[in-house]
Amino acid sequence: MGGGGGGRGVWFGVAAGCAAAACVIAVALVSRRVKSHRRWQRAAELVAEFEEGCGTPVGRLKQVVDAMVVEMHAGLASDGGSKLKMLLTYVDSLPHGSEKGIYYALDLGGTNFRVLQVQLGGKGSNILKQKVERQPIPQELMTSTCEKMFGFIASKLKQFVEEEESREGTIETRALGFTFSFPVKQSSVSSGVLMKWTKGFSIEDAFDRDIVACLQEALTKEGLNMQVAVLVNDTVGTLALGHYHDQDTVAAVIIGTGTNACYVERTDAIIKYQGLLTNYGGMVINMEWGNFWTSHLPRTPYDVELDEDSPNRTDQGFEKMISGMYLGEIARRVLFRIAVESEVFGDVGSKLSQPFALSTPLMATMHEDDSADLREVKSIFEQTLQIPDIPLKTRRLVVKVCDIVSRRAARLVAAGIVGILKKIGRDGSGPSTSGRPRGQPRRTVVAVEGGLYEGYSLFRDYVDEAIVEILGDVAQNIFLKTTVDGSGTGAALLAAAHLSNRKSYI
Ligand code: BGC
Repeated sequence: MGGGGGGRGVWFGVAAGCAAAACVIAVALVSRRVKSHRRWQRAAELVAEFEEGCGTPVGRLKQVVDAMVVEMHAGLASDGGSKLKMLLTYVDSLPHGSEKGIYYALDLGGTNFRVLQVQLGGKGSNILKQKVERQPIPQELMTSTCEKMFGFIASKLKQFVEEEESREGTIETRALGFTFSFPVKQSSVSSGVLMKWTKGFSIEDAFDRDIVACLQEALTKEGLNMQVAVLVNDTVGTLALGHYHDQDTVAAVIIGTGTNACYVERTDAIIKYQGLLTNYGGMVINMEWGNFWTSHLPRTPYDVELDEDSPNRTDQGFEKMISGMYLGEIARRVLFRIAVESEVFGDVGSKLSQPFALSTPLMATMHEDDSADLREVKSIFEQTLQIPDIPLKTRRLVVKVCDIVSRRAARLVAAGIVGILKKIGRDGSGPSTSGRPRGQPRRTVVAVEGGLYEGYSLFRDYVDEAIVEILGDVAQNIFLKTTVDGSGTGAALLAAAHLSNRKSYI
């Protein structure tokens, strides 16, 4: 009996032990589930907050359109009248198709620079031949000296010219179109001083110096006989190529590493230069819209922090919400906060904490990942951010963040474009400046260039969709046309148009 009772005791003991263990496991499971639920809840909250902060309902976009128009007027009224610089380009004639000869171009302004040779055949024959060579700009040159930067590009141009001319024969008088994609205060079509650097460039001794003189000096040192015929912004080159192919092109937008727009303005609307401009037609205005600002822009704490950590604080506010230099970084900041506050990515000591660890092209790849298991997202997290095995649910959340960042940027670009159209009376809302009666919409083309629009179809769709939302039926007459290498090719065309004695004024 005694033994039996002891056995029962042991049995009860074991049973009680098992029950306790099961209880502990159950409690652990429940608490894990609760924790995981809380983690998800926090992650979802952060995404929802971000989405709300980035909201661009059509009403807000229209406010941005109107603010753009107001700032355009202010920037045209006086220098310093607005954050929009509305810079004169002195481009008052655009290529029309009868230009002839061989021209060179040098295109500097993003992560790559390009040298080009363009052969034009004259009336009816368009561009006969074009050779383009792209080179990455060594990172250290972007913060070096004028002598080093211009010496480097001059030597690459020389190499290119020698190779081309060894095959095709030497050209007597070589003319160059120079695309320099930074804010420049021009004093003529072939001279101007740098106002500030953007996009991570910072060469101190370039300020207040004539950019063309710097290049011309470097070309002379290389022993390269070449005349810089025009100095243009990349937007202006893009407009020139757009106009060359389609005369209804009135504006151009770049959405690449940086962002900007230019358009054809009536000379009499450029109040700040009244009396100083001799041509009575039109002139291309470089808006430098990357610096546009209005309180209507949907700004989140992530944008504020990105700006505070940037070398050009309080500058280029629009650009910091739109362009390729920043979109990946905004997404990274949001994902990092989610990682810290919700632990859905596991260990946060990962690369996700490093500024600019997520580039915009990678962000776009994740956004456009249409595989059922989002394997691109998984592989980018593993390889670039060193975060392995993120579950499908988390991958979906990553795609959502990329979508919010990209959609806001694209819709703001759309609002900017409509702002320009409104200013020049092509949005169907007011009297037309061309003297046409209202109600007769005019075909209007905007040339667009840059990786974000060219190579990122979801971004492009968002831009197009928002233009329709803002403009309604009028959008049927608005065409956004992509150009490739327009910034450089257009500079060569402008050099040709400028040197031609058959100018067609705008
Ligand atoms: C520059 C503009 C340029 C744009 C696109 C901006 O950062 O200020 O001059 O057109 O980038 O390259």
